[in-house]
Amino acid sequence: MGKRLLIFGPPGAGKGTHAKRLAADLGIPHVATGELLRQAIGQGTEAGRRADEYIRRGELVPDELVESLLAERLARSDAREGYLLDGFPRTVSQARALQELLGHGAGRVDGVLCLEAPEETLVKRIAGRTTCTRCQAVYNRFFHPPQEAGVCDACGAALAARTDDREDAVRRRLAEYRSKTSAVLELFRGLRWPIVSVASTGEVGEVYGRIRAAMGA
Ligand code: AP5
Repeated sequence: MGKRLLIFGPPGAGKGTHAKRLAADLGIPHVATGELLRQAIGQGTEAGRRADEYIRRGELVPDELVESLLAERLARSDAREGYLLDGFPRTVSQARALQELLGHGAGRVDGVLCLEAPEETLVKRIAGRTTCTRCQAVYNRFFHPPQEAGVCDACGAALAARTDDREDAVRRRLAEYRSKTSAVLELFRGLRWPIVSVASTGEVGEVYGRIRAAMGA
């Protein structure tokens, strides 16, 4: 399989958890638009200031803002041989922009991995999530706690809940996924991009094993 891949699914499906590991195993960068936006917020850039209010409310940020951050990231040399995109595209307009980036409007990716889980599982996972304030490693106080409470195993920095993991923002994010993002999968089907769907329920290791098998990786 070629190495321009997408991971797709609702908030809490495990995209970040599995994408980090899969990208490392495949030797390609993990490019997550949520992380690019949070970095921009942390750096206090103009794009970050604009994105922050949307993210806190659980709304998608405007297409042109995220498209330009992504184009900048994919232009870096480490993405020349491929990448695993996480969190993009999330609207039909972003999917069209990705086609342009991939090759003059007719480009395709080599594979789309779609993670699926019931809504009550998504909500419980998000409620328990904490994220490293420095390296963005992801933990969960119910399912995957760090060795020392509140401290990142990987880099020792403090863990914190994301600003958009509040209950009202989570509900809005799930609604945004249903109303704007799920249609993107239909578009991929219409374009005949190769899609593999994997149930993201069960232990993390078990889900990852299913992913590797489904991707033939
Ligand atoms: P983003 O950061 O992309 O968030 P998301 O899509 O809402 O997804 P999450 O990060 O919540 O979930 P995930 O699927 O990565 O799950 P995770 O692995 O962390 O986007 C955030 C915001 O940025 C958006 O709302 C929007 O405002 C903006 N944005 C980003 N991209 C955009 C775009 N393209 N256009 C416009 N706006 C954009 O897992 C969740 C938890 O569950 C963790 O605690 C994990 O440890 C745990 N877990 C995972 N798998 C398992 C398992 N099998 N068993 C038990 N626990 C598990």
